[in-house]
Amino acid sequence: MENMRIKSLEEYHQRYAESIEDPERFWASIADSFLWKKKWDRVLQWDFNRFDVKWFDGAQLNITENCLDRHLAERGDKTAIIWEPNNPNMQSRHLSYRQLHAEVCRTANMLKQAGVKKGDRVCVYMPMVPEAAIALMACARIGAIHSVVFAGFSAQSLADRINDARCKVVLTADGVYRGAKPIILKDIVDEALLKCQDVERVFVLRHTESAVRWNETTDRWWHEEIRECSELCPAEPMDAEDMLFILYTSGSTGKPKGVVHTTAGYMVWAAYTFQNVFQPEENDVYWCTADLGWITGHSYILYGPLLSGCTTLMFEGIPTWPDAGRFWNVVDRHKVSIFYTAPTAIRSLMAFGEEYPAKASLASLRTLGSVGEPINEEAWQWYHHHVGKGRCAIVDTWWQTETGGIMISPLAHLTPTKPTFATLPMPGVQPVLVDANGQVMEETIAEGNLCIRFPWPGMLRTTYGDHERCKQTYFSTYPGLYFTGDGCRRDHDAYYRINGRVDDVINVSGHRMGTAEVENAINEHPHVIESAVVGYPHPIKGQGIYAYIICDNSTSSEESKRKEILEVVSKVIGPIAKPDKIQFVDGLPKTRSGKIMRRILRKIAEGDTDSLGDTSTLLDPSVVDRIKDGSI
Ligand code: WT7
Repeated sequence: MENMRIKSLEEYHQRYAESIEDPERFWASIADSFLWKKKWDRVLQWDFNRFDVKWFDGAQLNITENCLDRHLAERGDKTAIIWEPNNPNMQSRHLSYRQLHAEVCRTANMLKQAGVKKGDRVCVYMPMVPEAAIALMACARIGAIHSVVFAGFSAQSLADRINDARCKVVLTADGVYRGAKPIILKDIVDEALLKCQDVERVFVLRHTESAVRWNETTDRWWHEEIRECSELCPAEPMDAEDMLFILYTSGSTGKPKGVVHTTAGYMVWAAYTFQNVFQPEENDVYWCTADLGWITGHSYILYGPLLSGCTTLMFEGIPTWPDAGRFWNVVDRHKVSIFYTAPTAIRSLMAFGEEYPAKASLASLRTLGSVGEPINEEAWQWYHHHVGKGRCAIVDTWWQTETGGIMISPLAHLTPTKPTFATLPMPGVQPVLVDANGQVMEETIAEGNLCIRFPWPGMLRTTYGDHERCKQTYFSTYPGLYFTGDGCRRDHDAYYRINGRVDDVINVSGHRMGTAEVENAINEHPHVIESAVVGYPHPIKGQGIYAYIICDNSTSSEESKRKEILEVVSKVIGPIAKPDKIQFVDGLPKTRSGKIMRRILRKIAEGDTDSLGDTSTLLDPSVVDRIKDGSI
């Protein structure tokens, strides 16, 4: 894969130019370094109006051969995965490429035995253990489509996702640790499955050794079923555009959508971006602190690093347990050289003080990454000085579930950085900024909505089961352009700085949430009549959730209603969606046509009540004063 690595800033500019002038030639030469069962007939066919994009059509491959088999000759004994358990006193685990290959094959055979076939959907609802990574590759090995659901989501959310994708099999564990206490995952799966008709088999990994209920028809212990499975499993030949996975994400409407990624384009994009952004070297230990349940985990814990033959670290725990030095102890213990985390984690650790990183050596670190939300200058500087000790490159990587991999980012140690700027687009990425009238702004210095005007290999292909919705969401706002949902500024160096979402999506601790989704959950409380949710700046989470709620005149106290509403939201979505602030109101600012003016609610939530703008079009302007007076 040496031929895909950019080695200087000049080379970046040259490659970027090539990728724009002749994209097909450019991507063909990158794709050449992978293992194909059959090469493509055409590199790219595309149409952003019908939204039909095909990369490497006619080719056949299996991504797991590229992640595993291909490395066996040269790197069979090299560590592929280091697993650092939640409990710091427990032994970590090291799996070599050879062992990982064997485990993936055995697990693939276990799935086959359960009747899983090419094209079937498999739901993965698991803790951060190597078996989760193995599960995804086991699916890919036999051509099954994985759909990972983050283990913090509720039974209801899990059921919705299982049903939307019509998953046949669920892979889970007895429990998952959150800090010191185990949560019984299996109970959540049991509750979800009461609402799911298509699930035939549940494989349960023994992990926390918690007691679980058992359904003899569907449930099987993972360790028992896998015992007799062979370490050999031929890799299913997949068409370039066969689905690799579905991953659910929130948008501005109520229901999360299943973003679909396909095999060849995603593979090329994950590997290409990983290698160029992080510039890994053969003996590096690379650690991305995300969960496999998010796209960051898919692309940059699993696929990107393994495609590149890297050692990737999986961490089961949280940054603040047993104390706020955990990350830095793990870095020292495993000599991590590349560390990739979210601004929210940096800010939460900042609050505990610089003693923690100061106590650690951190001498192994060379490169630091940031992802998930805009990084504020203060967090950037803290990361740079206290974690990087002033000598590491920082890559602020902008991308989305839909983009499959990193889109705008410095290349570590090559691109001069500027705090809070994601800097320059990856080769193949053609960003444009669009003004309020939908016009593309040609000037270098500009600020507007961020769109992409040309396909890149890792882009989503559809949303599962609903192509119309996909077209509507991403290609209807600005015809002919992919709209990201983000606002963005471009400076005199043509560097990009992402300002954050301009739609009804909020970003809470790097987790993406639809305001409508949270409102729907709140509205399930029997005493709630109506609600409106907005984001507001939160010192640690980036954005917090502010809910304005109208209740009926039941006699229960505000305090008990508040508590119950939080419980309802936890039950419907998961604890990550619980509002930080709830204000009970007697009305919402609505226009005469009944539309809630969120702009006003956002201002009040931000504490900026002096410049509410024009409120004369409201049905009842006096409601604004009452909300203002009661704001928290
Ligand atoms: C949204 C996508 C990409 C993996 C994790 C999140 C925001 C992401 C950055 C960044 C500013 C960022 C955007 C984007 N975002 N990275 N480096 N700087 N904002 O994936 O859940 O699909 O969320 O996260 O608003 O649209 P996601």
